[in-house]
Amino acid sequence: MHKLENPFQETLIQRHRADSCTVVIFGATGDLTHRKLIPALYNLAAGGDLPQQFKVVGFARREKTDEGFRAELEESNKKNSRQGHDATLWASFSQNIDYHCCEFQDFEGYKSLKLLLEEFDKERGAPANRLFYLASAPEFFDQIMLMLRQSGLNVGSGGKWARVVCEKPFGRDLATARHLNEVVNATFHESDTYRIDHYLGKETAQNIMVLRFANLMFEPNWNSRYIDHVQITCAENLGMEGGRGGYYDTAGALRDMVQNHLFQLLSLVAMEPPTDLSADSVRDEKVKVIRALRRYQGVEEVSKNIVRAQYIAGSVDGVERVGYRQEDRVNPKSMTECYVALRLFVNTWRWQGVPFYMRVGKQLPKKATEISVHFKYPPQAPFPTTLQRGTRNVLVIRIQPDEGISLRMLSKLPGVQLLLQPVKMDFRYSTSFGKASPEAYERLLLDAMAGDATLFARRDEVENSWSFIDEIEHAWHNENSQPPMGEYPAGSWGPKDADDLLAADGRVWRRL
Ligand SMILES: NC(=O)c1ccc[n+]([C@@H]2O[C@H](COP(=O)([O-])OP(=O)(O)OC[C@H]3O[C@@H](n4cnc5c(N)ncnc54)[C@H](OP(=O)(O)O)[C@@H]3O)[C@@H](O)[C@H]2O)c1
Repeated sequence: MHKLENPFQETLIQRHRADSCTVVIFGATGDLTHRKLIPALYNLAAGGDLPQQFKVVGFARREKTDEGFRAELEESNKKNSRQGHDATLWASFSQNIDYHCCEFQDFEGYKSLKLLLEEFDKERGAPANRLFYLASAPEFFDQIMLMLRQSGLNVGSGGKWARVVCEKPFGRDLATARHLNEVVNATFHESDTYRIDHYLGKETAQNIMVLRFANLMFEPNWNSRYIDHVQITCAENLGMEGGRGGYYDTAGALRDMVQNHLFQLLSLVAMEPPTDLSADSVRDEKVKVIRALRRYQGVEEVSKNIVRAQYIAGSVDGVERVGYRQEDRVNPKSMTECYVALRLFVNTWRWQGVPFYMRVGKQLPKKATEISVHFKYPPQAPFPTTLQRGTRNVLVIRIQPDEGISLRMLSKLPGVQLLLQPVKMDFRYSTSFGKASPEAYERLLLDAMAGDATLFARRDEVENSWSFIDEIEHAWHNENSQPPMGEYPAGSWGPKDADDLLAADGRVWRRL
């Protein structure tokens, strides 16, 4: 039988697994640790995927005992664990969780952390690898890095590695991202630095590369000859619940979602095939996409290609919602966008003239993230009916929820007449594989422990995307003439200007 040369073989076989690891979580009493990190580690334990010698140290400032900390984590694990909660498994898993009470700024606490880790090593009879997870607000990154450096914790002991995982947001513009990168890289080598973008941990995001490069039928058509345009939508049906308004009002949709998640998806769709699956080969190709984006400078170019808006009062799923400026912790005169639509062009041979439309917004009718690739019409159709709107081939990659891929094509309606109708071929993860996909954080934590940085953002990716975003932000906050801030009622699909952006090109947003 013909054996396929398979560049994905590495992912098909058992991954390299770290022999031992202690994960230190900075900000361990916070929401992320409770809702995502501990449930992810617990589910990895349930699947037998954690290293043999495994420990977690929670680092935060509130006083707690180890037992008290474990009991709180148990309650949140019951609510958030993907595969449910098993009391026996939890008992053995949680024995390896300790709490270290300390202020991020307190050097003494890092010295005692070092002693604690050394004590673990003594108990095991060998040093362990160390993964430092920064689940804290980014303004503490500087401080934590400095302390890790001064205490010598940034260097692995006894030949073992020390790595750092940084949560988003990684900066708020190019200058702050550069500064953070300087600080992080002064403490850890770039190859030991893992910048999280949890979208990359989602199965469907990873499947974009498999779809494109492991199936021959798509890639030959994946270019400006056959593709009319691409849409990327990330819709949320929530607003500023849970006190999120304070942070969000300083960031906005462009910084919070486009710079990281949407650009990562764009890179995966538009990149050239990497020569192999090493982290740098994949990231080399992804960063080229961001570098090739047509830049928009000045208010006029930005207004022509980018729409921003805020929601006003309305209702989502029959529930009344206040407008953005009336939300808790939001400035009543805020000029922060909670919706943005963009028309982008990737200036490469492959994508010349193909628009990539993106939209992201709060208080939209449903929660959904998807990529749709809209193909051109056939050059000549020997059918009595003309091919018109709604009859293009469309390949939809659903990132969340209901992960899967569907393909719309035309078919003949049964009957004596030759009538055409669009039909859909649908692949769903949940039914095809009969098991739920792992949570993004499970995959990403495992990869960081295995030393595989493919699904993490590299320094140049982050800086190039901020450089693009900065120009838009400058135009939006230009003192002399600011582009307009549109409005849309909560529960609608966004402002009219976003529809007009596509209508000007003779196109419409896909109905989700
Ligand atoms: N939550 C999410 O779903 C989510 C998703 C994506 C990214 N993120 C990112 O992850 C990071 C953490 O988010 P979060 O929602 O978990 O934040 P959070 O709930 O506000 O938790 C912050 C944590 O930092 C600790 N902390 C704050 N100041 C400290 C200090 N001076 N010394 C020691 N500890 C201190 C807090 O400890 P005490 O409780 O002891 O004060 C708490 O453990 C943020 O960068 C966020 O943007 C979060």
